[in-house]
Amino acid sequence: MPSRTPIVVGNWKMTQDKASAVALAVGVHQAWGAGSGVEVGVCPAFVHLDAVGAALRQAGSRVILGAQDVWTDPNGAFTGEVSLSMLTDLGVQLVLCGHSERRHVIGESDELVGKKVSAVLNAGLRAILCCGETLSEREAGQTDRVNERQVRAGLAGVKADQLDRLVIAYEPVWAIGTGRNATPGDAQAAHVRIRAVVASLFGDAAAGAMRIQYGGSMKPDNARALIDQPDVDGGLIGGAALKAETFLPIVQAAVGSR
Ligand code: 13P
Repeated sequence: MPSRTPIVVGNWKMTQDKASAVALAVGVHQAWGAGSGVEVGVCPAFVHLDAVGAALRQAGSRVILGAQDVWTDPNGAFTGEVSLSMLTDLGVQLVLCGHSERRHVIGESDELVGKKVSAVLNAGLRAILCCGETLSEREAGQTDRVNERQVRAGLAGVKADQLDRLVIAYEPVWAIGTGRNATPGDAQAAHVRIRAVVASLFGDAAAGAMRIQYGGSMKPDNARALIDQPDVDGGLIGGAALKAETFLPIVQAAVGSR
């Protein structure tokens, strides 16, 4: 099996105030310390990126600063949106693209998500492309088809030499925030199929090197079983990322899995 450094990222969604966001980031940094064998990131809300980034820099932290979304155009009349240069100005290194809440609550299309992935990579940042099926799609046996469609569209504009800055997150919509995680076997099966899609686009070596995270009710008590699956290369964490004491055990599970 190719060795892929696991990556665990906290998606804080629309939570925290400025002080608690900074305290959480510092708490993650202090608890993780000089840990190795895993990459760790946090994605605060846009309005907290500046303060969280400053706190992480001041602490000399290796915790990656991520944003939850971005707009594709470099500047102009896009009321309410945030550009890549605004994010890089704040020290953002990574951007989530196509999170299920962006797709299913806000209505982002596969095509728009693909444009965002390309824009992020073209700007020199790292992207996490999220994919995953809804409950009705799963019940209709569409899981692999939906993931394939979202991954193909998400990677449509990506160049082979950008793949090392891309991570895919498989997040079944029915598992997000519900307390109902995919079984390790279900996650592994979906990840194998997603990796096969990457292989069909970029070849086996690129697919073997691609990290595919699982997200959806990953918690300290189920993280190890999920990340122990050979094709599950870490986690994208919502609820359990909101406290250092529930996030760190997941980070440690990822370290222990390889
Ligand atoms: P939960 O861990 O709260 O299910 O959220 C997962 C998620 O959406 C991370 O992006």
